[in-house]
Formats: sequence, C-alpha cells, structure tokens
Amino acid sequence: MEVKRIAVIGAGTMGSGIAQVAAESGFDVSIVDATPELSERGYRTIEKNLKKAVEKGKTTPDAVAATMQRLQVAPNIAEAAKADLVIEAVYESLPVKKKLLSELTPLARSEAFFATNTSALSVSEMAACMMKPERFVGMHFFNPVQVMKLVEVIRGAKTSDDTVKIAVDVANKMGKTPIQVKEHPGFVVNRLLVPLINEAAFVYAEGLANAHDIDAGMKLGANHPIGPLALADLIGIDVCLAVMETLHTELGDPKYRPCPLLRKMVRAGLLGRKTGQGFYTYGGERP
Ligand code: NAI
Repeated sequence: MEVKRIAVIGAGTMGSGIAQVAAESGFDVSIVDATPELSERGYRTIEKNLKKAVEKGKTTPDAVAATMQRLQVAPNIAEAAKADLVIEAVYESLPVKKKLLSELTPLARSEAFFATNTSALSVSEMAACMMKPERFVGMHFFNPVQVMKLVEVIRGAKTSDDTVKIAVDVANKMGKTPIQVKEHPGFVVNRLLVPLINEAAFVYAEGLANAHDIDAGMKLGANHPIGPLALADLIGIDVCLAVMETLHTELGDPKYRPCPLLRKMVRAGLLGRKTGQGFYTYGGERP
C-alpha cells in the first residue's frame, strides 16, 4: 500500500513540525489536538513557519500555497483516523498515549498504519492497545523537524516487516534519513543524549558554572552545535525528565537518576522555549 494521507495527532512542538514537513513533501495531511483551539494553534504555527521560510528565501509563496492546500485541521480524532498512516505526537506519557490509541484503533481503516513519535517509551506496550499491533511502529523524529535529518524507525515486538518498510519509505519521502533501531528504552539517540543533558543539569545545579558557560564549554570544547542546557529548553524540560524517568524505571540503573532540578522546573512550569522560560528566558510567543 502507498501512503497518501497522513494524520498527526497532537499539534504541539513535534506534531506541527511533522505535519508541516509531511505536507511539504506531498502528503495530504490532517492535524488534530485535544481541542479545536489547540488544533488551530498548530495550524497557525505551521503557517507562520512557512511564512518565515519564504522571507529567508528557503521556499516560494507558490510552494507554500500548495503545502497549505494539502494541510487541514481535522475536526476530531475519528476524522483523523481515516488516514493511511496515523502518527501520534501527544504528551510523553504512556497512560495518555495508550488511552488515545485505544480510542483510535476501532475508528481506523483496517489497512491503516500507526506510528508513535515517542522519545523513549515502549512501542510494544503501545502496540498492545491496537487491534493490529503488527501495523504499529515507532517513528522518532527530531526537533526541529524541519531541520533535523534523522528518523529512528523502531520495531516493536510484533511490528511487521511491511510496517517497518512503510515507515522507512515515508521517512525517505519526507527527505529524512531513517535508521532502524530495536526497541529499548530511549532507543539509540536519547539513550546517549538525554543522560548528557541530565548531567549538565546536575553540573548547573551544583553551581560549577552558569548556564552560558556550561553551554559554551560543550560548544567550544566538544564541538556540539548547541549546548546541553539550550538543547534541554528546545526539547522541553518535561520531555527530558520523562525520558530520564523511563530510562531509570525501565533499566533500574541508578546512573539514570533524573536530576532533581529537572523535576522542580517541570513542577514550576519552567519547560523551556514552549513556556518562555527554562534554563534561559525567551521572549514573545511560543516559537
Ligand atoms: P508538546 O507538549 O509540545 O505537544 C503535545 C501536544 O499533544 C499538545 O499540544 C497537547 O495538547 C496534545 N495532546 C495531549 N493529549 C492529547 C490527546 N489525547 N489528543 C490530542 N492531542 C493531545 O510536546 P512535544 O514536544 O511535541 O512532544 C510530543 C511527543 O513527541 C512526545 O512523545 C515527545 O516525547 C516526542 N518527541 C519530542 C521531541 C522534542 O524535542 N520535544 C523530540 C522527539 C520526540
């Protein structure tokens, strides 16, 4: 089967990025969030990003018009479930994702494929909510989706070869480079990356250096394009904490202990760029 229609559920940081790139790549795309207002916000974020891309000369007004024509807000998840491929990008919480998937599965077409954009959670556990777990796969995009080339394609215990192939094909068509990864907490990239961010939070909390100097250290001394604390703000402190909690709970190794400062920041709503403050302060609207 060829995927033509993609639905993205959850129109936040990642969902809006995935929907934008999918529509730019020629797929018909619908997005939906928990409320019509949030779905609209996602749509407007995409509109704004595309406008900026025109201003920077990265695309043309004609291409943007064609992209926007392929993109629509679905009125509800039942409508979104009619797609060939449904990608969920809701909160990094297993109960939230499982509830959504249990609602979606009876509404979907029998030949539909499902993907999760989870950062670290078990693809197999989510697939167990589905009537056809073999048609469920992880497609882990990176932030910002418009820029980052990688998609980790994660095979759950029951994911079929066909489903993996569909995910690889869709990622390629979106101009991404897929890598195939076996299911394991954090997969490959976040298993390596988020413990680094967590350690940077410990270094900051212990007062070894200020945020600018920690980030400058890793940029200038380790050749990272962005410092770990600025990256934490970009990813979302809540997402970073959720990944550490998954690594810690699933693997049971104390080396994955989440930094208490991350927990404190999440409790205070200091989630990074999306709330205007994290390790740094950001002005204006949600980027
Ligand atoms: P976000 O907080 O920006 O967006 C999540 C969106 O899901 C919100 O708009 C929320 O209203 C919506 N939502 C929650 N429950 C819903 C439901 N039942 N139905 C419809 N919409 C619902 O979070 P973000 O960062 O976009 O993360 C989404 C997923 O992507 C998470 O699983 C996260 O781990 C993963 N991810 C995040 C990355 C990042 O850098 N932020 C990178 C790669 C993956």
